[in-house]
Amino acid sequence: MQVLVTGASSGIGRATCQALRAAGHTPVGIARDFGKYPEADFATHAIDLADLDGLPSYLQKLVAAHPDLDALVLNAGAGRFGELEQFSYTQIRAQIDLNFTSHAYVARAFLPQFKRAGRGHLVFLGSEAALRGGQKGGLYCAAKFALRGFAQALREETARSGVRITLVNPGMVQSPFFAALDFQPGADADQHILPDDVAAVIVQALTARAGTVIDEINLSPQKKVIDKKK
Ligand SMILES: NC(=O)c1ccc[n+]([C@@H]2O[C@H](COP(=O)([O-])OP(=O)(O)OC[C@H]3O[C@@H](n4cnc5c(N)ncnc54)[C@H](OP(=O)(O)O)[C@@H]3O)[C@@H](O)[C@H]2O)c1
Repeated sequence: MQVLVTGASSGIGRATCQALRAAGHTPVGIARDFGKYPEADFATHAIDLADLDGLPSYLQKLVAAHPDLDALVLNAGAGRFGELEQFSYTQIRAQIDLNFTSHAYVARAFLPQFKRAGRGHLVFLGSEAALRGGQKGGLYCAAKFALRGFAQALREETARSGVRITLVNPGMVQSPFFAALDFQPGADADQHILPDDVAAVIVQALTARAGTVIDEINLSPQKKVIDKKK
């Protein structure tokens, strides 16, 4: 299976590429900077998905370069948290551009070839923030709620074409996602999910028997602990 993974340079995306490799599949990675993943032994494309103006022409080239893809893992994202008035108007737009609109663009670019082929699979990375709103998470939750509605609607739209749509909603995952934030999941093993845990779920969904769709999966750490950084 050939699988395009966005946000492949780090965290869940990187773990997904490694799990796909280990299972004999071929990832194709997108991120801005693969310098932090020098051992990536698969095709990679350095693309800023938040640059929505440039994205359609990049995507057109990508579709032409990878006509035999079987699936997409739409995973790239970043969280910024704070009360609404702490965000500039530009920052509001940037959060939604990256965490929702860029995924709609990537799906838009690849769906026609999947529909023509009568098969294909899109796995979206939602979040527990796609399921309930939380304080200081207004924009991140809005983008993830949008992604969930989008995934549900696309599932209805593409089912007859043989295209599968899955949404994966993790709770707090121990990854570089928290590097720029003032909080992180607890350090104990039962206080966070590992990127490998999410990757295993993604590979399970991708390799489910044809004819079965894993619509949506929620996973959580056994204990929810939010560790405020000093
Ligand atoms: N960590 C959590 O607790 C958690 C929980 C639920 C859901 N999620 C979701 O899971 C996904 C992956 O998060 P993660 O925890 O793996 O975080 P991460 O380790 O920070 O990885 C984020 C990935 O997205 C890429 N990315 C960010 N901005 C990009 C841009 N403008 N253009 C292209 N690629 C970009 C990053 O690559 P570059 O920096 O190289 O561009 C990186 O590969 C996100 O959608 C996140 O919302 C995370």
